[in-house]
Amino acid sequence: MENSPVIQMDGVSRRFGDVIAVDELSIQVRAGEIFGVLGHNGAGKTTTVRLLNGVLTPTGGVMRVLGLNPIEDGPQLRRRTGVLTETPSLDERLSARENLIFFATLYGVDTPDIARRVGEMLETFELSDRANEKVGGYSKGMKQRLALARSLIHRPDLLFLDEPAAALDPVATRQLHGLIRRLSHYEKRTIFLCTHNLDEAQRLCDRVAVLEHGRLVAIGTPAELGRQLGSAVQLDLEVSPIHMAVALSILKEFPNLVATPDQEGEIEVSGAQREQIPALVAALAKASVPIYRVALQEPSLEDVYFALHGASTGRGALHNNGRDRILQREGRS
Ligand SMILES: Nc1ncnc2c1ncn2[C@@H]1O[C@H](COP(=O)(O)OP(=O)(O)OP(=O)(O)O)[C@@H](O)[C@H]1O
Ligand SMILES: [Mg+2]
Repeated sequence: MENSPVIQMDGVSRRFGDVIAVDELSIQVRAGEIFGVLGHNGAGKTTTVRLLNGVLTPTGGVMRVLGLNPIEDGPQLRRRTGVLTETPSLDERLSARENLIFFATLYGVDTPDIARRVGEMLETFELSDRANEKVGGYSKGMKQRLALARSLIHRPDLLFLDEPAAALDPVATRQLHGLIRRLSHYEKRTIFLCTHNLDEAQRLCDRVAVLEHGRLVAIGTPAELGRQLGSAVQLDLEVSPIHMAVALSILKEFPNLVATPDQEGEIEVSGAQREQIPALVAALAKASVPIYRVALQEPSLEDVYFALHGASTGRGALHNNGRDRILQREGRS
């Protein structure tokens, strides 16, 4: 049991009339992982979360969550999972403290522990000084923080977060990211995170899945997906502005490169192979071009995402046929 996946989906589908919201989805999520799910509006992320929580019945396929069947073992499962839904419903007539006490009781937190646990969550989400006010008067971000506190109140082994940072300010977002890392890295809890924030996914997630029209179109670590886009890299060069013309003429001698001059001596070089970097720097140095910075830009999850969806990120060679390459390596078409 120890190494069995926390989430196992085999060919899971869900239809709504003619719409196939989730289409033969097969995914495994490992214990302690921060697993990201990306995809356009309507790609099937929220439907997947609802299926995994037993809120929706699949129209096909098999799934296990923490070894349980979400439909048959719903109550047992919900004691071990926490969910932050897209539009969390809190009781607006109650205070934050009362909301948390209610849910702690509902989710089976031991009665003697409830007051302490509620206090801890109010502290963590910086709601202590407003804890006794009615939630109806809270701001959107405060409600979101309260909903996060609620999803964690019973210390779930598996946490589903559907757009958790949607209403949060930058400080609260950073705190949330720290908390997610702590839950995963130190407490070994598993996080299933749906997000539109590609930078968030890149920095936070151990692995990500990209959905399109309910189908899985890519899965892997952000670095793996980036490498599948191809071997070309982008370089950001900064040279002395008065040597810009010399630098550009030298870069022209490398036929596979595209050098785009930017302001103040900055040059964006795309299409380069990693192995070419030493020769390129040596050629500039030989011509006495002062080099202030050579920064290698690895393909990001954003590049992968736009390559998969066939749109340009404006990053030259990176998005060429990226989708085909990723799909070929995944053995799909
Ligand atoms: N209860 C429902 N009844 C009918 N159609 C639904 C229902 N729930 C979802 N759908 C449809 O299923 C598809 C997937 O929706 P879903 O909410 O899972 O997308 P999403 O990836 O979460 O999108 P978003 O990024 O906008 O939150 C959409 O076409 C949606 O209209
Ligand atoms: Mg959604």
